[in-house]
Amino acid sequence: MEIEQLREELRRHEHLYYVLDSPEITDAEYDKLMRELKKLEDADPSLITPDSPTQRVGGAPREGFTKLPHSSPMLSLDNALNEGELRDFDRRVRELLGDEPFQYVAELKLDGLSMATHYDGGQLELALTRGDGATGEDVTPNARTIRSLPLKTTELTPFEARGEVIISNKAFQRLNEDREEEGLPRYANPRNSAAGSLRMLDPQVTAARQLDYYAYFYLTNGQPGAPSHSEALAKLSRLGFKVNPAHRVCPDVESLLDFIREYEAQRETLPYEIDGVVAKVDSIDQQNRLGWTAKFPRWAIAFKYAARQAETIVEKIDVQVGRTGALTPVAHLKPVSVSGVTVSRSTLHNEDEIARLGLAEGDTVVVERSGDVIPKVVKVIAEGADRKLFTMPTACPVCQGKVVRPEGEVIWRCVNVNCPARLKNSVRHFASRNVMDITGLGKELVDQVVDKGLVKSIADIYELKAEDLAALERMGQKSAERVMAGIAKSKTLPLPRVINGLGIPFVGERTGQILADHFGSLDAIRSADEPSLQQAEEVGPKVSQSILRFFEDEHNKALVDRLAAAGLTLTHQKVDRSGGPLAGLTFVITGTLPTLSRDEAKALIENAGGKVSGSVSKKTSYLVAGEEAGSKLDKAKELNIPILDEAALQSKIA
Ligand code: IVH
Repeated sequence: MEIEQLREELRRHEHLYYVLDSPEITDAEYDKLMRELKKLEDADPSLITPDSPTQRVGGAPREGFTKLPHSSPMLSLDNALNEGELRDFDRRVRELLGDEPFQYVAELKLDGLSMATHYDGGQLELALTRGDGATGEDVTPNARTIRSLPLKTTELTPFEARGEVIISNKAFQRLNEDREEEGLPRYANPRNSAAGSLRMLDPQVTAARQLDYYAYFYLTNGQPGAPSHSEALAKLSRLGFKVNPAHRVCPDVESLLDFIREYEAQRETLPYEIDGVVAKVDSIDQQNRLGWTAKFPRWAIAFKYAARQAETIVEKIDVQVGRTGALTPVAHLKPVSVSGVTVSRSTLHNEDEIARLGLAEGDTVVVERSGDVIPKVVKVIAEGADRKLFTMPTACPVCQGKVVRPEGEVIWRCVNVNCPARLKNSVRHFASRNVMDITGLGKELVDQVVDKGLVKSIADIYELKAEDLAALERMGQKSAERVMAGIAKSKTLPLPRVINGLGIPFVGERTGQILADHFGSLDAIRSADEPSLQQAEEVGPKVSQSILRFFEDEHNKALVDRLAAAGLTLTHQKVDRSGGPLAGLTFVITGTLPTLSRDEAKALIENAGGKVSGSVSKKTSYLVAGEEAGSKLDKAKELNIPILDEAALQSKIA
């Protein structure tokens, strides 16, 4: 295939996947096309163009950001905090327009940060953050890593798109879990994390954060470039931008209110955070006549939803020790419901955060949830009668060992590598379902085997004996044998899981897979130097240094040697599944299947080359439905998508 044709094909698939959320090919097929393109470009680097799909991450970290002026100010919106204020806004618009007919466009107010992107000759030339509204920061290399932002479009005359950079709830939660494991403070909300991620000096870090971008303004020379807002949205969509499908033309304030109520009810189920609804007068001519106040447009307003907050009491503050030895203070709350989710604990990050809040045990606080299942204490509203001030322990609460707070860090860490808390958390992680899947080796049993000294290192798991286990509390011969069987089975699990199980900071399931695919064995990973580690997809300085540091440690070297001796799977054959029986097909799974869990069904499909997606669309090939299938089944029937039960799925694979 011609190189440009190949690029066009890849762009089309990126658009299908990241913008329209309805892929036509499997990830493996996509990767294959990408590798082909890379090969051609490597063979003759003069063929590389800046809009090539291979060029999303390029360039080294920078020293700082350049400030540049916006083509016209990027202002924000006035707020309506309730129905009355929205009606006031509507009345003002009607008065100013006389009796002229007009309509609104309602769209979701995504909780992210706004960004302007400039295109010339169909190429992305510049991306600026909002900054102070008059000037923004040049974040072009970072923005290029956002897969839903086109690097190339068909509109050749210069134009500008403005929109919102966001992080999905899923990516946000994953990011916070990683940070917690690293002992880094969690991001308070998706918006902060999106902003922090976009403004990384190293674009590789931005790339790993999986940001998303929704466009909502189309401008030429700093002015609206279409006769109406709705036509601008349609134009952006035609040019390949992601435009939120959740927008609607509303003829009056009543239908705006309907839209607002509808999406408030759906708020919990959306894959990203919204903090309200934006209403804009559709016609640009009318927008121009309505004009601006000193700060805001008179033709638009942001209706804000109430924050998802509740009041409760902090009953106790204790300190947990994580896998990396980080000491994290945790607030135990009197259970309270925050928009339907019961919360009873909240991380307090570190001692500085507690001081900032002025928080003590017994205080009444406001907790808030945003994008995350774990809520955050926002402020103290009443001090408890016999409040107990919190102080960070001077020794590890678990092993009584030394704790240190390295200079420049906010986190105290237990330095004892053999600290039982670190060990217990490491063993629990290793044995967990998504890692080495050792059935029966849950929290309680881990506590016992560590406390009894049977397990002093992850490798000791493979030296446990059935009779040792059977003698433990709440264990018997039968359960001991079940655990032994789980341990034996774990030896057959593939290398990516073992890598994940080692608990190397910044190396989880996904990176484990990438490293295994790239290097083919744990030995090769272990002996790789920094430049060769960075040859692997998505591996930047942070990850490579973490891997090097891990394998330099004598305990870790010994651990890996012992795991090899125990017979774990430490080599890896990259599987090309594009020839599998389900290659090219997309499945959605719903309801409870008779024998397979959701994860097992997914693995089965993926191993056969199929793709599993979360939502039913025209591009879904089959719906796999079990007991108590709900709306997905209805949708599939509506779209005439064939429905399979578990047995039918199994026979398709066989
Ligand atoms: S229109 C002058 N539309 O909310 C018009 N903004 O206070 C300004 N936002 O800074 C923006 N979703 O960061 C607009 N659909 C949407 C939006 C949106 C989120 C953010 C944006 C802006 C703030 C408005």
